[in-house]
Amino acid sequence: MNKKNCGYVQIAIDGTMASGKGTISKALSEKLGYEYLDTGTIYRKLALFSLSLDEPANIVNYLNDININDISGNMRSYEAGQAASKIAILPEVRNFVTSYSQSFAKDKNIIMDGRDIASVIMPNANFKFFITADLEERARRRFLELSEKGEKETFEEILKGIQERDERDMNRDIAPLRQEKDSIVVDNTHMNKEETLNYILSVLTQKI
Ligand code: C5P
Repeated sequence: MNKKNCGYVQIAIDGTMASGKGTISKALSEKLGYEYLDTGTIYRKLALFSLSLDEPANIVNYLNDININDISGNMRSYEAGQAASKIAILPEVRNFVTSYSQSFAKDKNIIMDGRDIASVIMPNANFKFFITADLEERARRRFLELSEKGEKETFEEILKGIQERDERDMNRDIAPLRQEKDSIVVDNTHMNKEETLNYILSVLTQKI
């Protein structure tokens, strides 16, 4: 493997909502013994905080004073995800998350997942993966996950929500979600999480 990143290995995992990238990234970090950072959770935490303000966009005035480790709440909820994609269009919010994530990644072997890891946060990552699946399949997965947790959204609402979130994430002006030229695209519409993980591991173990 080349000697980028001072001998540390950086693995960027971007992808669409409900593609399984979070679970897969976490499992990879456990298998390889690397640190893991889920940048979506940082946006979700900031979003929960923003919902307590009269105007969510005013979050930009609080960024200097926020300690994200102090924010708690139902981060994995449907509302938190939708709210996250709304504040994620704000340049101040993106800069905050980018700086935090880049400092976190310094001098470690790391797996980071999100939407702009390969393009903005770790452009020199040793490996870049882009995970996605068909819209209907992603809606089915998220519907099962949320109904197991007792959340009430219907399949149709979830499908529409994913479409809206994809649309916002792919078409925003700053750091839109997209496949980088040097990313390996993994379409897991017909693969389960274990198969996806094994495929990624097979790519990595040939090269690490
Ligand atoms: O990955 P997750 O669903 O937790 O992300 C929530 C939202 O946060 C995404 O829909 C996206 O709008 C935003 N996000 C982002 N850039 C990242 C990670 C997440 O814009 N690196």
